[in-house]
Amino acid sequence: MSAPARSGMSAHARRLVRDALRACALACYALTTAACTGSQSILNPAGPNAGNVSRLWWLMFYVCAAVFLLVIAFLAAALARTRRRTNKLTDAPDTEPDAGRERRMRGVVTGAVVVTVIILFVFLVASFTTSRSLYALSDPNNLRIKVNGQQWWWQVEYENDVASQTFKTANEIHIPVGQTVTLRLTSSDVIHSFWVPNLGGKRDLIPGHETTLWLKADKAGTYRGQCAEYCGLQHAHMAFVVVAEPVEQFNAWMEAQRRPAAPPANAEQQRGQQVFLASPCVMCHTIRGTDAGASVAPDLTHLASRQTIAAGMLPNTRGHLGGWVSNSQELKPGNRMPPIPLAPEDLQALLSYLESLK
Ligand code: CUA
Repeated sequence: MSAPARSGMSAHARRLVRDALRACALACYALTTAACTGSQSILNPAGPNAGNVSRLWWLMFYVCAAVFLLVIAFLAAALARTRRRTNKLTDAPDTEPDAGRERRMRGVVTGAVVVTVIILFVFLVASFTTSRSLYALSDPNNLRIKVNGQQWWWQVEYENDVASQTFKTANEIHIPVGQTVTLRLTSSDVIHSFWVPNLGGKRDLIPGHETTLWLKADKAGTYRGQCAEYCGLQHAHMAFVVVAEPVEQFNAWMEAQRRPAAPPANAEQQRGQQVFLASPCVMCHTIRGTDAGASVAPDLTHLASRQTIAAGMLPNTRGHLGGWVSNSQELKPGNRMPPIPLAPEDLQALLSYLESLK
């Protein structure tokens, strides 16, 4: 072979190895700078289930990274060897007997197959053990929360054997730190998927079929969750938060949520309540303690206590609330809430009332 052709082979091999190593370095950089540190990351576990899932993930990552580097090393060695052999061929014929080379190749291939089977078996056992560990938190005495996924928000119902102690809220789940809660998951339209990466794995919400998920937080904090199954136009805006707080704080929150809405404290709020009860709002929402008792949209009894509106999409501020009431279709096209055209004074009164629903 001529010299230019030989140098072409070598440059190609070098480029291949260089690109592969660069891709590997980029992947490692992305992992260490983004995924591991985010607030919505399985690699930043705040509970036992997420811890088990992340351990499985790291096992797979390290093994696959080692396999990748080995393959690249073998590829580089093979390319270098081919080049040496090609050089040699120009001077003298290959002296290695075909039978010996055949035996060696067979040994290498058999070894690679055995190692691959062992790795896959280790993954199988690790995955099985992780799946079992996710069910270990099941206990009939757990606090029970029913979550109903709807396009595109989450209805959250705290269950209790005493009917008067149950209550509903939306898009924000409070749990006590150190205690396991049992989530009963359903959907009333299409399939959604409940996922709080910092606390555990995903579980689908299936219409007409109940699924169960157990969550436990070891650390207090606010953990963002997200629908993880494509469910229509606003799938990306179907988020929620899980607030894990110390038991006393959680109990106080639950007590407050059980209470009906506070009555209007002034004339402005009084007018706002009248606007609410006379407008289409009352057709879909509940405000406990008033005549509004519909349940096709989020329960607003303690709306002002929540951090966000529109399923985690917007901070719960007066401005955002005003924009949402006036024309939510501009903010989240396709959602079920129609525009509510109100006179400016009526809108301000309504907002004052809604802001009083702590
Ligand atoms: Cu609900 Cu995606």
